[in-house]
Amino acid sequence: MREKGIVSPAAQDDERQFEAALRPRRLDDFTGQTKLKENLAIAIEAARQRGEAMDHVLLYGPPGLGKTTLATIISNELAVGFEQTSGPIVQKKLDLTGILSNIQARQVFFIDEVHRLMPDVEEMLYAALEDFRVDILIGSGPGARTHSLPIPRFTAIGATTRQGLVSAPLRGRFGLVLRLNHYDVGELKKIVLRSAGLLGVEIEHAGAEEVARRSRGTPRIANRLLRRVRDYAQVRADGRVSREIAVTALDLLEVDRFGLDEIDQKIMLTILEKYGGGPVGLNTIAASIDEEPDTIEEVYEPYLLQLGFLDRTPRGRLATDRAFEYFGVPRRMRGGAQNTLF
Ligand SMILES: Nc1ncnc2c1ncn2[C@@H]1O[C@H](COP(=O)(O)OP(=O)(O)O)[C@@H](O)[C@H]1O
Ligand SMILES: [Mg+2]
Repeated sequence: MREKGIVSPAAQDDERQFEAALRPRRLDDFTGQTKLKENLAIAIEAARQRGEAMDHVLLYGPPGLGKTTLATIISNELAVGFEQTSGPIVQKKLDLTGILSNIQARQVFFIDEVHRLMPDVEEMLYAALEDFRVDILIGSGPGARTHSLPIPRFTAIGATTRQGLVSAPLRGRFGLVLRLNHYDVGELKKIVLRSAGLLGVEIEHAGAEEVARRSRGTPRIANRLLRRVRDYAQVRADGRVSREIAVTALDLLEVDRFGLDEIDQKIMLTILEKYGGGPVGLNTIAASIDEEPDTIEEVYEPYLLQLGFLDRTPRGRLATDRAFEYFGVPRRMRGGAQNTLF
């Protein structure tokens, strides 16, 4: 998801600290994603019992749903070290060699945005994931030789928002491929109440529910909105977050009632207004709003589908009655005279 406006480095740092403080540390504190959690719990327990490195894990799903959090939880549960990098950071094979040759047995190596690795770096990773070895070039020119160095068995955790961009050979090297879905209002409410507890914010259940409903199914957004609502309650009221305070604060921030962001709204209005509700093809929508089709499909549509604003049909995307109603767009009559009934 795009960040709104320009965020200063200091504000980014603050945001990171805030997120870190609210990050669950154990699997039991991690709300929702029941099936995924069960699969992970089994893999963790099995590795622990055998005293071996856990299988490599690929986590995919839209931003802010808990991929980084789960990677740190896995290392906590396994009681092993945690090393982190990301696709755009490891630019050269030498960068990866440096990390891999220092890797400790059974530790977690987290690679965020794993779909953005350079091709030659990615290829080097294959050998590390599959055969636990790293190929090093010794010397230069005609005398150069490749030396294959064994490394201890470790657990790689890859995270991506763009499953479609992870190459088949890379994907195939992860023993567990787990998808994170958007959270429902009940789960988000639980997360908001937990965060409020940690931050010492007094919040009523109805207040937490209002924040949850407007969080776009995303814990990161829920925590951010809680922070804004807390400020409002502190400055304009007695600090306690009731439903009324939450509603007023969130309306003031112009947060949509379903948490829809600018791009969600553009997608929906394109389908509703420009294409009369559809059906309209994904590529046509993408071209209209100047976004990549894959991003729409993997990052934006899942939430719109969950809300019941959109249907996927063989002929394209179709807006639902609920969407027409929410956006206040009148249905165009096909063919004959328009709106004669009204
Ligand atoms: N299931 C969850 N329960 C509680 N908090 C969560 C959960 N998932 C995510 N969060 C919170 O949301 C924020 C963003 O999570 P993060 O793991 O960074 O998302 P991602 O890496 O998928 O973008 C973190 O502050 C984290 O504490
Ligand atoms: Mg992350």
